[in-house]
Amino acid sequence: MKNITVIGAGTMGNGIAHVFAQKGFNVHLVDTQAAALDKAMATIKKNIDRQIAKGIVSEEDKQRILQNITCFDTIELGVQKADLAIEAVTENSNIKKTIFAAIDLHAPAHCILASNTSSISIAELASATKRPQQVIGMHFMNPVPIMKLVEIINGAATANEVTEKIVSLTKAIDKIPCVVKDFPGFIANRILMPMINEAIYALSEGVSDAATIDQIMKLGMAHPMGPLQLADYIGLDVCKNILVIMQEGFNNIKYAPCPLLVNMVAAGKLGIKTGEGFYKY
Ligand SMILES: NC(=O)c1ccc[n+]([C@@H]2O[C@H](COP(=O)([O-])OP(=O)(O)OC[C@H]3O[C@@H](n4cnc5c(N)ncnc54)[C@H](O)[C@@H]3O)[C@@H](O)[C@H]2O)c1
Repeated sequence: MKNITVIGAGTMGNGIAHVFAQKGFNVHLVDTQAAALDKAMATIKKNIDRQIAKGIVSEEDKQRILQNITCFDTIELGVQKADLAIEAVTENSNIKKTIFAAIDLHAPAHCILASNTSSISIAELASATKRPQQVIGMHFMNPVPIMKLVEIINGAATANEVTEKIVSLTKAIDKIPCVVKDFPGFIANRILMPMINEAIYALSEGVSDAATIDQIMKLGMAHPMGPLQLADYIGLDVCKNILVIMQEGFNNIKYAPCPLLVNMVAAGKLGIKTGEGFYKY
């Protein structure tokens, strides 16, 4: 695999593009919003500068990495040469299915289609294509250039050789693949989101304040970040949506988002991206 197309140039898309470009892949970055592409390239430059300051890459590497990325504003042009297309757009199954259908139409027959979805069924996304055996989940963690894990999700129809190729590719970009089945929330969010939800319940019941709850989980469990601060980083809307997908997917009320979380999302307090969540930024 040489040509990687990343669709969606937001938080995750720019990180995925950065990592593949750094490893010498030819990256096509697609977004329908010109402003998102500009912001993504600015973020990638800023993150490479951080890597230079830490001695991870050199000044010459910076030019090479940036030259490996070409921006496109349509899927049609962006996926024409793709060996692998990784979708990283908004967490909405209808939007993602439209994109999977478009990639399927325009990408070469051998191209593997991956989704960075946090919780949407891979089988459902695969159903929008005529190549469900070549559809797989590649769930990168935020921030992508730093986090080692990629959760690899096999859909109902994903072929073994496709999984093997994606596992090898993940290792080639210095990440660690963990293969799981296609269940709501997969593993990472199935375990993380109930913990975040429980922390929000504890806060709303007045058991303690946000800083103390986070401090207990940092000191007591050796977590680098408390669950409420982490929720602010992820985005409270994203947390709520993943919980709803698990509640519906398992038909189990235990995953229902805490009313405080629902209210905060309704009030536009989404965490860092809006300047306020459980903390002010
Ligand atoms: N943010 C996280 O911490 C995180 C972690 C792991 C996985 N994810 C998953 O990654 C995916 C992307 O999340 P994000 O936080 O990067 O979102 P984001 O909102 O930062 O970026 C989404 C991008 O998709 C673009 N987009 C929307 N519709 C498009 C289309 N039709 N064609 C091309 N581009 C389009 C938007 O313009 C935007 O730039 C989601 O599925 C999310 O669940 C997010």
